[in-house]
Amino acid sequence: MISEETVIKLLIIDKLIHRQEYVLRELAWEIGIQPGLLERIVNDMSKNYLISIEKGRIIWNPADNPSTLKPWGWLLIHKPLLGSTQEAAKGASPWSVIVAEYMLAGKGRHGKKWYSDLGGLWTTFKILTNSQTASMTPIIIPIILVRILRKSYGVEASIKWPNDIIVDNKKIAGILIEGEAFRDQILLYIGIGININNDPPLPDTISLKNILNKLTPRNRFLSLLIGWMSRMEKLSLEPEKIRENYMEYLETLNRKVLVKTLQGELVGKAVDVRDTGELIIEVEAGEKKVLDPTHTFELRHID
Ligand code: BTN
Repeated sequence: MISEETVIKLLIIDKLIHRQEYVLRELAWEIGIQPGLLERIVNDMSKNYLISIEKGRIIWNPADNPSTLKPWGWLLIHKPLLGSTQEAAKGASPWSVIVAEYMLAGKGRHGKKWYSDLGGLWTTFKILTNSQTASMTPIIIPIILVRILRKSYGVEASIKWPNDIIVDNKKIAGILIEGEAFRDQILLYIGIGININNDPPLPDTISLKNILNKLTPRNRFLSLLIGWMSRMEKLSLEPEKIRENYMEYLETLNRKVLVKTLQGELVGKAVDVRDTGELIIEVEAGEKKVLDPTHTFELRHID
């Protein structure tokens, strides 16, 4: 259930999206709440947004407002509230990026709900690509996220198979990839949820804010992601390099794992990954099983 306070915060964001500054009293009247209440709520928002009150004015740092980005070759659609960015992307043209501040029905893998609290980066990239690139996307996207976290933020992130991004065994980002055929190509809906300045509610989850002990302007992360997305086809031309990179970042490799699949539970050692993302585990000396990410509901490291 969405709280009344969250609704007010979304009304504030809705106003600030296209205008980074507002006189506090003017904004209070426009959204129909008392200035004192608005002041309290904006101060609370400053835990999750680069937003402040200075001399009676509310100011949202443009580097934290995705609407200020104008990425070359992409249509950026930024909304305060959506059901899910995945569904909104279905109606958009290819090469659109959909960003929502809050999702009422955020989608996780295997039909699970995805919590999208204020201050995170919840986005879907809609791309049109060839089947070679599409088949490698599940291993390219986690590599991209780990690279950004390591190289641009100095955070030792790694991949938990198939594509959870973890730091200190806690999840910082999740990926949901959906696709459909379009003539002789594939339309991909690449959903990425990154805990940036939000306070993730679940155990074993972490945000960039928790790690860096400060708020980070989200547009830097978003621009880096857009840059990599534009280079997806080029990256997929070197499948062996991509597979090696994935293995290098894969926390699961050589670990003892417990997996839940359509056929039941399995325990084994993760020994290899294919370039389309299947994990090979050794269940008993010599006996290997190939795990398909779409049919594996849960994986736990148990050593
Ligand atoms: C997972 O780890 O289960 C995948 C989570 C994917 C979440 C993102 S947030 C943006 C996009 N829109 C959604 O509804 N889900 C994905």
